[in-house]
Amino acid sequence: MDCLIKDFAQHVGEVVTMKGWSYNVRSSGSIVFLQMRDGSGFTQAVVAKPTVSEEVWNAASRLTIESSAIVTGTVTKHPKQEGVYELQVTDVQPIQIAEEYPIGKKEHGPDFLFDHRDLYVRSKTPWAVLRIRDRVFLSIEQFFHEEGFIRFDTPIIQPTSCEDTTQLFTVDYYETPGYLSQSGQLYSEAGIMSFGKVYDFGPVFRAEKSKTRHHLSELWMMDAEMAFHDQTMNMDVQERLVKRMVKDVLEHCQEELKILERDTTILQKLVHEPFVHLKHAEAKRILKEEGLITKETYDDTYWQDDMSTEEEIALGNKYQLPVFIEDYPAQIKSFYMKRFVDAGGVLRARCADLIAPEEGREIVGGSQREESYEALKKEIVDRKYPLEKYEWYLNTRKYGSVPHSGFGLGLERTVRWICGVHHVRETIPFPRLLNRMEP
Ligand code: 4AD
Repeated sequence: MDCLIKDFAQHVGEVVTMKGWSYNVRSSGSIVFLQMRDGSGFTQAVVAKPTVSEEVWNAASRLTIESSAIVTGTVTKHPKQEGVYELQVTDVQPIQIAEEYPIGKKEHGPDFLFDHRDLYVRSKTPWAVLRIRDRVFLSIEQFFHEEGFIRFDTPIIQPTSCEDTTQLFTVDYYETPGYLSQSGQLYSEAGIMSFGKVYDFGPVFRAEKSKTRHHLSELWMMDAEMAFHDQTMNMDVQERLVKRMVKDVLEHCQEELKILERDTTILQKLVHEPFVHLKHAEAKRILKEEGLITKETYDDTYWQDDMSTEEEIALGNKYQLPVFIEDYPAQIKSFYMKRFVDAGGVLRARCADLIAPEEGREIVGGSQREESYEALKKEIVDRKYPLEKYEWYLNTRKYGSVPHSGFGLGLERTVRWICGVHHVRETIPFPRLLNRMEP
């Protein structure tokens, strides 16, 4: 009977057949230990010379690292480790004997591993991380459908920019310049005028000349958009979504978290506790007064600036929970955000970035959108964007404009944080970075 390794626990004492790869092979005299994986999990297949035919013994002895084979045997409990199962082999059929595998037992640097990413995806860490990515993806899809959203896919080739124009990848679209999507948001805003609540999920592109462990040139973003939602309601949806994702990973990915040696204390805590809310000015004040960051001067730029990586990490460390940083100065935020003047006379955007603790940094950016046709048009003109290219977008404010809000969640930053891995490149099968477009 064919059986996946993940189901071995239900077949103790039975003879089963598994199809997979030998990720490691050890032998000691009359026993060959085949460390097998089949995509669903990992197991040790024990081939004892006295109990198998000569033909089977020879077949097992030929297997090298990453050879493919069909292995049959009896499932047994590991004599010492609880919850671990082995296979006492009766038959081995090699499918292909792999030549010497480049990823060996010694430590490799990340450049080597990512040069061989096509092979490196087979290793345990990527296996665990990419399965968690899959679970997060599923959670997001389930969450939105349960909450009454419609999936509304948005184009990847766009005529304009959504975010900072300096980060655009240009493509030659039948001799007209086109741009790779930075976010589907503007199109999602058209979508809510038909469906009320929509989300999209797809690759977006940022031509940032940034080499940090938080930046990809190609990432997957989920944009959600909601009619008749103000910024408070928007943040509530984000909090419910993040709690749901984390809860699902804790429930369904225990083996993966174990492989990653992830301490889940904070993840468990945040599922039940309200997230922290800080205004941008308050966050800057706390960082300064509590000496959480090192700065030589605290001039105007400090108070008006975006949050640096160092500042985001310091806030996450202080609260040990996700933190919404609200109401950034309008000048450093995107053109579509609703604006207001605060008590101190500063023009601010009705927005929030959600910072994950444990060095997760910003995982979500969201805002209430400017719903006034005149105000939005003025902002586009003031920023010297080509107005004619935004006519279609302005139609959302011309015909039945409503207060509305939305947010974008970066899948890789979210998965990086949940997995507790160092670099965002670990969280996508084939990363595209400033210095990497291959394999
Ligand atoms: O904050 P951002 O730029 O927001 C937008 O693009 C909005 N239009 C989304 C919306 O409101 N629908 O990006 C959203 C998220 C960030 O919080 C971050 O998680 C991720 O996308 N992100 C990146 N992740 C990895 N590498 C990059 N270069 C990223 N840029 C953004």
